[in-house]
Amino acid sequence: MNNKKIKVGILGATGMIGQKFISLLENHPFFEVVVLAASVRSAGKTYEKEMKDRWIVSEEIPNYVKNIVIEEVERNKRKISRKVDLVFSAMNMNSEKIREIELYYAQKGVGVVSNNSAHRWTEDVAMILPEVNEHHTDLIDIQRKNRGWQKGFIVVKSNCSIQSYVSVLRVLKDLEPCEVIVTSMQAISGAGKNFDSWPEMVDNIIPYIEKEEEKSEKEPLKIFGEIVDEKIQLCSNLKISATCVRVPILDGHMANVRVNFKKKTSKKEIVEKIKKYQNPIEKYNLPSSPKEFVKYLEQENRPQIQLDKNFEGGMGVTIGRLEKDDIADFKFISLAHNTVRGAAGGAILLAELLVAKGYLN
Ligand SMILES: NC(=O)c1ccc[n+]([C@@H]2O[C@H](COP(=O)([O-])OP(=O)(O)OC[C@H]3O[C@@H](n4cnc5c(N)ncnc54)[C@H](OP(=O)(O)O)[C@@H]3O)[C@@H](O)[C@H]2O)c1
Repeated sequence: MNNKKIKVGILGATGMIGQKFISLLENHPFFEVVVLAASVRSAGKTYEKEMKDRWIVSEEIPNYVKNIVIEEVERNKRKISRKVDLVFSAMNMNSEKIREIELYYAQKGVGVVSNNSAHRWTEDVAMILPEVNEHHTDLIDIQRKNRGWQKGFIVVKSNCSIQSYVSVLRVLKDLEPCEVIVTSMQAISGAGKNFDSWPEMVDNIIPYIEKEEEKSEKEPLKIFGEIVDEKIQLCSNLKISATCVRVPILDGHMANVRVNFKKKTSKKEIVEKIKKYQNPIEKYNLPSSPKEFVKYLEQENRPQIQLDKNFEGGMGVTIGRLEKDDIADFKFISLAHNTVRGAAGGAILLAELLVAKGYLN
């Protein structure tokens, strides 16, 4: 065991995203998972015993977690907070409860990186997509000052639906994207399900995902916002209209996007900007950082779920079908892996960034 590693707990370790965290954190150079926690339903058993028939992600249950006894998130929070420096929060319960639990850990000096939406609109909580708004980590200093915390903090990831198109809009920021119409075609793992647990999704499309459209329209405005007077001022130069649809796909959220830019541009210029884009967090050399953040695919039938969702281990975004549009300026299709880039992988990258910037040392 490497004592220099940061001790980590996973809250919601039995769920779809908890499982993905466990897979991605195996042999991680910065983090050592020492606590797995879930509800009273799973607590008290070893992870292997509890998950024997529940493990649904494609990788095997890693050996390193098999004998860890699952703790109960609420009842054991005092004990857990003494064992860890950082928790990844991936619980599915009511927002009020999640807010309370995440605040508890932060007050106790534990860093909280959350996948949940509970704190996304808390004023002094940053919502960070590392390649897009890494400078919003400054909000952690403000949060600590406001709340008298020395070590703890809460930061959140944005919703999985926005990852692909927000990444592309960031790369094209100089062209000043101002109006976006997006239809996201979202995989069933985004609801923590597979085809066994959601058979109604076989050969089906459901044109509604609760609260998803509001998140898809508003969260990018916080991410593209700026810190003014110790608060995030939402980006006022961008309007987004979103339709979110559940499709019969296991992993991978695809977005069909139409965009207007303030600056006049051409397909050639957009493609060049994507190809030449310098990843702003490359300098930190983070273990989960994709070498290529956004990749433009020339072929007219790409990106595809099967061929492209795992680009850069699921941490990269692919874009294709870029064309001039008769109504908007341009249209394109973008794709991101929802449980990797959109959830566990994105949260781990964010935690790595916080280590590199000294918030977890
Ligand atoms: N799936 C995605 O692509 C995705 C993407 C971005 C964000 N998210 C967010 O990530 C979170 C987890 O999503 P998921 O898909 O992994 O959900 P999930 O598969 O339903 O897992 C939920 C987890 O929460 C735990 N939990 C439920 N009630 C609890 C309670 N009362 N106390 C303690 N733990 C409790 C469950 O433990 P038990 O097994 O013991 O019940 C389980 O570990 C959600 O907030 C979701 O919105 C998901």
